[in-house]
This record gives sequence, C-alpha cells and structure tokens, in this order.
Amino acid sequence: MSKQKIEFNCSQCGYRPPKWIGCCPECNEWGTIAEVTISAHAKNSGSFKQAVLTSLDALSTEPKERMLSGISEWDRVLGGGIMRGSFLILTGDPGIGKSTLLLQIAHRLAHAYNVLYFSSEESLEQIRLRAERLGCLSNQLLCSDQAQLESIIAISEEKKPDMIVVDSIQNCYSAVTQVIPGSIGQLREAGFRFMRLAKENNIAVILTGHITKDGTIAGPKMLEHMVDGVFYLQGEDRWQTRVLRSVKNRFGALGELGFFEMREHGLHEVTNINQQLLDEATYSPGSALISYIEGSRPLLLELQALVVPSKFGIPQRVITGLDPKQVVLMAAIIEKYLHIKLSTHDIFFKVSGGFKIKDSAADLGIILALLSSYFQKPLPEKSMILGEVNLTGQIKPINQIAMHLHEADKFGIKQLLIAKNQKLEKQFAIIKKFHSVYELITLFDDASTTM
Ligand code: TYD
Ligand code: MG
Repeated sequence: MSKQKIEFNCSQCGYRPPKWIGCCPECNEWGTIAEVTISAHAKNSGSFKQAVLTSLDALSTEPKERMLSGISEWDRVLGGGIMRGSFLILTGDPGIGKSTLLLQIAHRLAHAYNVLYFSSEESLEQIRLRAERLGCLSNQLLCSDQAQLESIIAISEEKKPDMIVVDSIQNCYSAVTQVIPGSIGQLREAGFRFMRLAKENNIAVILTGHITKDGTIAGPKMLEHMVDGVFYLQGEDRWQTRVLRSVKNRFGALGELGFFEMREHGLHEVTNINQQLLDEATYSPGSALISYIEGSRPLLLELQALVVPSKFGIPQRVITGLDPKQVVLMAAIIEKYLHIKLSTHDIFFKVSGGFKIKDSAADLGIILALLSSYFQKPLPEKSMILGEVNLTGQIKPINQIAMHLHEADKFGIKQLLIAKNQKLEKQFAIIKKFHSVYELITLFDDASTTM
C-alpha cells in the first residue's frame, strides 16, 4: 500500500494548521478545517525537467488566432473571440444561464474547431435534452460527464482539442488529493492543473464557477489571479436581459458588456441595447439623456430625478445607480451658484435600465435632471448632455467625445448640451454650449420666472 500523509486545511482561507482545530486562527471561521489525505507517491512522483531558457527576440510575435463563435456579443466581450491557449472563467448566480451560454458557444465553435465539453454537474442525458432545446445537437461537439480532474486532463492531453469547457470547476474532484469538491484546496489544485493544461498544450480552457452570496467567485482569490479572464453573467430584471461583463481580461477591454435575452430556445444576443434604452426614455421633467462608456461601448442612459419639497427637517436623498456623493455634490453646486434651495427638498435619483455608472462626464446631466425636475420643465427632446462640472461651477470638456457622438448620431439624437470649450471633430445639427452653471438657467427661463 502506498503511504498516505494527512494534512489539515482551512476551506475558507487555505491556512494549514499542524493538527485539527475547531476555529481557524487566520480567518476566525468555525468548522472550516478539513482533513486532506495526500499520497506520498503523488507528492514525490514526477521527474523534474530543467526550465528551458529563451531570449524574447527569438520568440515569434505573430498575433495568436482568435476563435470566433459568430455570436457577436460574446466575441466582443471576450476581446474579439477566444484567444488560443487562454484560461478563462465564467461565473454567475445559479440558474442565470452559464451552462446554456457555454453549450451554445461550444456548439458554434465545434463547426470549425475541436471542442470538448465536460459537465461535472449534469449527466449526458441532461446535456442532450438541453442541446435539443437549444438546437445544438450535432456530432461535432464531443461531451462527457466526467468529473475527475485527472481523467479530464488526460483525455484533453491526448486529444489536444482547440478548446475545452469544464462546467463547473467546483464539482471536479481530484483522485490524488482527497479534498472535498468545492473546498479551497480542491479549487486551487484544479485551477493550477487547468492552467498548466491551457498553457502547455495551447488549449483554450473555459471553466464555470459558482458565486458566493456577496457576489464573488466562490473559492480562493488566487483562482482569479490565475486565469486570463473573468466573466460574470448577471441578470437584468427589467427585460429578462442577461449581461455578460468582463471583470478581468488579459486579451481585451475591462468592463466590456454583452447583452443577451433568455428565451425558450436559449440565450439570444441583444445587439440593439441602445435602441431599447432610448425607446424607454421619457423626455419628461426630471429626465436627462447622457452617454456612458462601459468597456468600449457607449450606452445611452436616462438619468431620472425627482425633486420635491421636504416634509421633514432632514431632506431625503435616495440615490441608486450612481455614487450618492456625486449627486449631493451637484445639488450643492446648484444651491451655491443658482441660489435654489435644494437643501429643503427631497431628492430621488436613478439611472435607467438598472445600470450603475461612475463617471464625472455625467455631472452636467445630473445638474440638468435636478433642475428639470425642480422647475417641472422637460429638457429639449432627444438632446444629449455631456460635461464635467467642477466645484467652482465651471463646465469642463470630457474625454472620448467622438465615441459618444458617433453613437448619438446613429440613434438620431439631434441636440448636444456640452461645455463651451469642448472640441468637436464632427459638426452636429444643434449644439448648446455652456461655460458655467449660471448659464444653465436659460434653459428653464420661462419656468424660473413663474416659480
Ligand atoms: P443554466 O444554463 O442551467 O444556468 P446555470 O448553468 O448558470 O446554473 O440555465 C438554467 C435556467 O435557464 C433555467 O431556469 C431555465 C432557463 N432556460 C431557458 O429559459 N431557456 C432555455 O432554452 C434553457 C436551456 C434554459
Ligand atoms: Mg450550470
């Protein structure tokens, strides 16, 4: 019999105490220390190869090929398709559609590439039923319900596919280190083995990962450092939309968004998200249209403000979708320079579509939304507002204006409200330029005289 060694490992933080204890001294969690059996054979096996040294100029610098699925929302978020040999993780709440999306992608890619699909969570019958529903049945995609890490690695090394999908990493178990699936030791081991598989064999590896209650990938932070890309699939309640977001991507832009809709036959890409957002815009008092760049794509968003006299001594500030401090600061600027007493008003503020934004280019939009609600007068219809406002009430130009304008033009936005010294490469039909917040009052002139 091969000799076995027992070690202890905290499933929360990975701390290794010399003996079993009830409470981990590192993370103070109770009952997280688990026994790990390591076979001595496994520890000592393996012949060590010397590292190979290469000078960088001898390396070929040809750009690596990207595997395009033809699902443009996916390909764009990935940075232009899946890079060969990349190691990626897709995560999100249970039932959000990770397995559905990956089966669709794997099916598409299997037309042109060798793709293996390992499901450690579902049986082959379940995958077949899903594939039937998605219209993804073909003889080109090879599937397995193998959950043993070593078996997955062995067949992948033998077949040398272009890509493998492993759904999910938490459910893979190792036959060598007998740790519980989903524990930190197992995730670290599996993550490391898959990373080596990807890099040594030039196989793109996509894992799915579970998410914890606070919204981070369940498992060691190390897993996020190990992979080339981390992608979140999130739900957007408003339109049963699923948003694919890149939170780490060594081969593409951060914060890139892709939109999908979950239908009866799987996930369908939504390529015209801005049209949907504009269709929902109201152009009523308190509404201001801005453009916000997320990743590499401008989103046309409506800011909605409601300003009402406060019934209580302390006015309410209920703000969602952006930093409350930014709205409070803009309200203070209005109060200081336009002498409008917002401190005696409640302010409710949100961003359309449930989006969360963080950008000083929205400053002017926030001020105009607040003023429009205060004066109960709508802003000019189909006008886009872009400008930063500093503490002295000056309106400043913003960066990347060309990208915003290109999108505005596409959707028939007619008017621009921007900073006086904003330089424009392209002419727009109607442009209103402002130097400071004092001039903004002219937009509400007739309303302000009747207030
Ligand atoms: P799934 O991909 O299994 O989610 P995850 O892998 O992230 O846990 O998605 C399951 C959900 O999606 C389930 O609630 C049913 C729904 N669904 C559809 O609405 N249409 C479909 O075509 C499919 C396959 C699933
Ligand atoms: Mg799943």
